[in-house]
Amino acid sequence: MKRIAVVTSGGDAPGINAAVRAVVRTAIDKGWEAFGVRHGYAGLANDDFLPLGRRDVGGIIQRGGTMLGSKRYPEFKADDTQLKAIRFLRQREIDALVIIGGDGSQAGALALSQKGFPVVGVASTIDNDLYGSEITIGVDTALNVALEAIDRVKVTASSHERAFLVEVMGRNCGYLALVSGIAGGAECIVLPETPTDPEAVARDLRAAYDRGKSHAIVVVAEGASYNAEALAHYFQEHRGRLGFELRIVKLGHVQRGGAPGVFDRLLATRLGAEATESIARNEFSVLVGLAKGEIVTTPLVQIVGKTKMLDPRLLRLASVLAQ
Ligand code: ADP
Ligand code: F6P
Repeated sequence: MKRIAVVTSGGDAPGINAAVRAVVRTAIDKGWEAFGVRHGYAGLANDDFLPLGRRDVGGIIQRGGTMLGSKRYPEFKADDTQLKAIRFLRQREIDALVIIGGDGSQAGALALSQKGFPVVGVASTIDNDLYGSEITIGVDTALNVALEAIDRVKVTASSHERAFLVEVMGRNCGYLALVSGIAGGAECIVLPETPTDPEAVARDLRAAYDRGKSHAIVVVAEGASYNAEALAHYFQEHRGRLGFELRIVKLGHVQRGGAPGVFDRLLATRLGAEATESIARNEFSVLVGLAKGEIVTTPLVQIVGKTKMLDPRLLRLASVLAQ
């Protein structure tokens, strides 16, 4: 019999609860005991655990957020904090820890494993910037939220012949902007991966009007060199010459909240269940993610610190389709 714990760390993502539920129920199915750690790595460093039975994870699959709580906890980068966490885990006779989170959380997972504690990571972040998984828990739901916002903005933009900037999350990664921009039929997409030229944005908007469009939507990634506010400011400063006023809709945390859709519930369930299987095989220091539709494990050492690139085919498609 094993005793395992699960922690959710970093930005929450719709679907995390489904992953927690899958970890717990597959562990209990094997006759193991399961525990949750509250508030991310802060709970690990402060011995904040709770036992989790089958019923404790009932009624959560449809809920966004994380039932365990999460936290940004930079103190966990320190060796002594990590060693303290390992002491608590050992005192509680925990055999292995499942860490559900994004690239920062998986850096913490790697640090714990390099200090000798058995860990398995589960790929979760709305940003989709985590190496080792083609898509992570929460991305699909966050994209659908962005898409609904873009569709709604487009309606009012058309009525008034206006131009809008819709700013989406993603930290330094443009994935959410690129995909919601393509799926939402944006006239222009502004990404962190390429330097922003506000004059090029103006040319795209002008071209859209010249082609007879009654609206213009620019999807902007929050991490772009010109975010929505900076772009709007530039257009305001050069209003006479550029001829556009840009209104801003900043989606922010709205994208992280809400109920997970079917894709995220299923992905999270599959990843969580595989984390338990990985522990059962004594396969540790890995991230459980998705590759070509299959659940795979990749050594944490191969994924931490790597930058996931945007698919160049999607980038080309975005510029062709915006014409
Ligand atoms: P995400 O996991 O969603 O990318 P963060 O980057 O905020 O979110 O990371 C989540 C948490 O992981 C941090 O608050 C910190 O506790 C821990 N963490 C981040 N980077 C490291 C690191 N290099 N070493 C150890 N722990 C880290
Ligand atoms: O990593 C997820 C994310 O939502 C990013 O897209 C965003 O930049 C960041 O977290 C916001 O962090 P916080 O919720 O700590 O303000």
